[in-house]
Amino acid sequence: MTEIMGVFGYPIKHSMSPEMHTAAFKQLGLDMAYHAFEVHPEFLEKAINGIRGLGLKGVNVTIPHKVAVLQYLDMVDDLALEIGAVNTIVNMNGQLTGYNTDGEGYLQSLLPFIKSDIKQMHVLIIGAGGAARAVAITLAKYGVRKITIANRTAAKATELALQCSKFCQSKDVSMEEAEKHLSDYDLLINTTSIGMTPHISQVPLSLDELRSETYVSDLIYTPLKTQWLSIAEKKGAPVLNGLGMFVQQGALAFERWTGKKAPAEVMKQAVLRRLN
Ligand code: ATR
Repeated sequence: MTEIMGVFGYPIKHSMSPEMHTAAFKQLGLDMAYHAFEVHPEFLEKAINGIRGLGLKGVNVTIPHKVAVLQYLDMVDDLALEIGAVNTIVNMNGQLTGYNTDGEGYLQSLLPFIKSDIKQMHVLIIGAGGAARAVAITLAKYGVRKITIANRTAAKATELALQCSKFCQSKDVSMEEAEKHLSDYDLLINTTSIGMTPHISQVPLSLDELRSETYVSDLIYTPLKTQWLSIAEKKGAPVLNGLGMFVQQGALAFERWTGKKAPAEVMKQAVLRRLN
């Protein structure tokens, strides 16, 4: 009998997860299917109960449900609890456990890209929302030297920096201060949606003071190269888009559901086919 997985979000029609996971199931010859479910926030609890009732093997959870979903689960793993958000649910005989594979997915996409010692790095994170929390807490626990958070709403940056400070040096700065002292950082990460299609001419932070040795990373993958990454590249900096993170978070979810190694390259090609 075909096992069913899926993603809950609202809206959901632009999700590339179905193509990505379907390609992986096909590659491994698994009798599994993956569907995008448009779940209105009002019906989230009922939809979660639907996982139990219908015996879905597991689901991904995306915007806007990543935080609200925690209250409806039987268990939440420690990292997801620390991040305060769940993007992957595993159903074990009706017992639902929540995980967060976003931060780990980001780390896995980052490791092959960085040629120096990540643990020596001072990282600037732009944004303090859900994606920023996943990335910041994962990097802090991994053991980067220092994390600085800059966010439009300063109070959220302060709160996230405080949480990171349990694991590494951490502080928050204003956006202006971050721009002025850009040469302090070894890695810049944009976790906001600034620059995403259709607002492709916007940039999250000025790169006037960028050094060519600083790695520049954007979690956005539509477009694959944001204006911000283009500017960084013109200044000679190594740049990383968000495609790798998207694929790796999916690969980690796939591995939790199937117990098998995910065919990450096949998954990436499926997303690229959809993007092109
Ligand atoms: P996600 O789960 O994708 O991280 P989120 O939790 O809503 O989404 O967080 C969005 C982040 O992008 C926040 O840091 C937000 O800044 P605020 O905390 O000030 O809201 C940031 N962001 C989004 N649009 C922005 C904009 N136009 N200018 C500056 N920051 C923006």
